[in-house]
Amino acid sequence: MQILVTGGLGYIGSHTSVLLLEKGYDIVIVDDLSNSNIEVLDNIYKITGKKPTFEKIDLKDIRAVSKLFKDYKFDGIIHFAAHKSVNESLKKPEKYLSNNVGSLENIIAEIKLLENPINFIFSSSCTVYGQADSMPINESFPLKKAESPYGESKKMCEEILKKLNNSNHSFKNITLRYFNPIGAHPTGLIGELPIGNPENLVPYITQTAIGKRDFLSVFGDNYKTKDGTCIRDYINIMDLAELHITCLEKLIAVEDENFFKIYNVGTGKGTSVFELINLFENVNDIKLNYKIGDRRKGDVISAYADTTKIKEELSWSTKYSLENALKSAWNWELNLNKDE
Ligand code: NAD
Ligand code: WQD
Repeated sequence: MQILVTGGLGYIGSHTSVLLLEKGYDIVIVDDLSNSNIEVLDNIYKITGKKPTFEKIDLKDIRAVSKLFKDYKFDGIIHFAAHKSVNESLKKPEKYLSNNVGSLENIIAEIKLLENPINFIFSSSCTVYGQADSMPINESFPLKKAESPYGESKKMCEEILKKLNNSNHSFKNITLRYFNPIGAHPTGLIGELPIGNPENLVPYITQTAIGKRDFLSVFGDNYKTKDGTCIRDYINIMDLAELHITCLEKLIAVEDENFFKIYNVGTGKGTSVFELINLFENVNDIKLNYKIGDRRKGDVISAYADTTKIKEELSWSTKYSLENALKSAWNWELNLNKDE
């Protein structure tokens, strides 16, 4: 089986690529390196002993995408490639819409030319729910007005996939609305490596702990939550990577040529910023320098998943802990800096 992994050198894509190779799939990684590094390819090889095929392609380039589909015959596609900075998207909305929506449109143009229904997994985000009216969030909750062009791009992609499913073209799809992935591979060879200033909490924590940043700013401690800080559903990257294998196997096995499902992907448990910081300090036996700062514009107060649907329909639930994720994130940061 040959699987196209777009954005396969990025954070979630690299962890999933490792598991796909370990499971015996042939993979073709496509990445334009806009938010990743070619060394990730060597590290995937170090972990698995297998060299995935790599194509440096910008998926916005329709001719390159067309050639890709002529050069290979894919049994499945996992579409991770996208820009993901909420902050940057507010400053450069067009960049986000043209990349995130444009790349998907180019791939779909090729899918429409295929004779057999392709198995397609799409990376969506909990951001499509905005601030939900109650917790936990289930898949039938309304999608609120997007807080950012990044969020808008994910909503638009979901609409495009729904339209394709409603057309008479056969197409098997699972769309995954990830909550907050954290942690790194147990080898410490791959992990989350944001280019520039990290926006996400865990990379900011590890970079502060190692001394690259003076302090972590906690964005508000006066929310109406258990300890005043925001609540999120942090999921271990290894659970998330494994889920993609489960979804792929499901799509391959299912006979319905118009199979179309949307799932929340989280642990079902809400964790506050303070709780996450305390856990990081405890499991790694380290003191973190943090200060209380202003609220961050656009932050939802609370977001955690109702995971009933994915548990029932895919028999999937998380098995790695938050402690494990925070240890592995720290191990990854230490590894990154061991030569400096
Ligand atoms: P990432 O930035 O680490 O990985 C994305 C990869 O896609 C990068 O390697 C980048 O170089 C590549 N890419 C971007 N545009 C491309 C293009 N036009 N052509 C080819 N390659 C391109 O991000 P990630 O955290 O691994 O996220 C993967 C997916 O999951 C994204 O779609 C993201 O929106 C979604 N997601 C991520 C999170 C999160 O917190 N990490 C949460 C919810 C959803
Ligand atoms: C987590 C918590 C912050 C940094 C983002 C995207 C969302 C989705 C997941 C892609 C929040 C707090 C953070 C810091 C802090 N991604 N924080 N100090 O906000 O849930 O969502 O990633 O689809 O679309 O918006 O994740 O990691 O940025 O923040 O206090 O320096 O940590 O306020 O409560 P978030 P995050």
